Amino acid sequence: MNIVFLGPPGAGKGTQAQYLCNDFRLQQLSTGDILRLNIKQKTDLGKTAEDYIAKGELVPDNLIIDMIRSEIAKYSRDQGFLFDGFPRTISQAEALDSLLDDMNKKIDISIELKVPDENIIDRLSGRRICPICGATYHIKYNPPKVEGVCDIDGGELYQRKDDNPETIKNRLEVYKNQTVPIVNYYKKYNKLEQVNGVGELHNVYRIINEIVSKVN
Ligand code: AP5
Repeated sequence: MNIVFLGPPGAGKGTQAQYLCNDFRLQQLSTGDILRLNIKQKTDLGKTAEDYIAKGELVPDNLIIDMIRSEIAKYSRDQGFLFDGFPRTISQAEALDSLLDDMNKKIDISIELKVPDENIIDRLSGRRICPICGATYHIKYNPPKVEGVCDIDGGELYQRKDDNPETIKNRLEVYKNQTVPIVNYYKKYNKLEQVNGVGELHNVYRIINEIVSKVN
């Protein structure tokens, strides 16, 4: 099974992906996480991507598609994927379909998490991340047991550089202009489910789990 998670920055894609991958043994492929790892490792891709991410702009399609192609190649053919934050343009969506087609696979369902802009700033400014395991918390809505410390491995939680008000505003604009058209792309193929992403984390997950269980 292969799933695409769509939704604006801070919609909860990464958070819900962690639950879903656990329950359905999917491999999460978050293009944002892979790009941040490249930045940390100072690869050529990381050096190019850094500026785009800092401004909240999309990294060029050709770089992202090559990156996803080599990520997919790391896993066995029967591994299912949850694509988180990818595709973000129609070109990326078409490239993904063709990549999967070459492997006799397909996207089974795309899930769009719908969250209004006013919730996004609140969510992103309170987000904290573990540098060791990547677990995501929120100071109000999903706090760790000990402030500033990851529950899983004791890592010291940090705030992403692009989670500042100015960059968040641009990320939202970019989402509306460049990524929203993908919603219609999947709708056209009858592969779109829309979920209200506002509400308690586990209530949102229950709905997503029901959708995926039906497809599985
Ligand atoms: P990326 O890392 O993908 O960021 P994003 O899409 O902006 O999404 P986020 O990771 O910010 O949010 P999320 O939806 O995962 O929310 P989360 O679960 O953390 O991309 C970063 C950049 O990389 C892009 O701007 C671009 O430059 C580049 N890039 C990445 N992919 C690309 C691509 N395909 N093409 C080109 N460029 C690309 O939740 C957010 C917070 O809210 C957390 O604190 C969480 O605890 C909290 N929360 C979650 N759910 C709830 C809830 N129900 N109620 C209350 N709080 C909640």
